[in-house]
Amino acid sequence: MSYEPDILGFACNWCGYAGADGAGQAKLQYPTNFRIIRVMCLGRVDPSFILRAFEDGYDGVALIGCHIGDCHYVSGNINAQDVVKHVQGILDTMGLGRARLRIEEVSSAEGPVFARVVNAFKDELVAMGPNPLKVAKPTFAQEEAQL
Ligand code: FES
Repeated sequence: MSYEPDILGFACNWCGYAGADGAGQAKLQYPTNFRIIRVMCLGRVDPSFILRAFEDGYDGVALIGCHIGDCHYVSGNINAQDVVKHVQGILDTMGLGRARLRIEEVSSAEGPVFARVVNAFKDELVAMGPNPLKVAKPTFAQEEAQL
């Protein structure tokens, strides 16, 4: 059975988010279930943000920011790589698997790259199946019945 994975993206203001804008302006398709949180730099993404996303049921999390050497805050993306490696270890221990979390380098001029990496991630998440922590949400009728 196929499903549409819910993906959370943290995108830095200067590159990743601008890349998403570029993809949109070029009318490139990427999944509608990909939700973006704009941060000034990937160095702002705390491990707890990522773990909270999985706890909330997201099937995958992507950090998308500047190429190494281009971070507007010098080393934020290098620090983010360390955070991702650390959290990937936690995801392995939890049984979710490290492949549900990735970090990508996309410049402001790389809208097509943005669309390509997001689409590829979505395809991989479809193959992995839903986040096992995702709790089935009750339907409106079920909620009404409990009142
Ligand atoms: Fe883009 Fe730091 S400003 S990753």
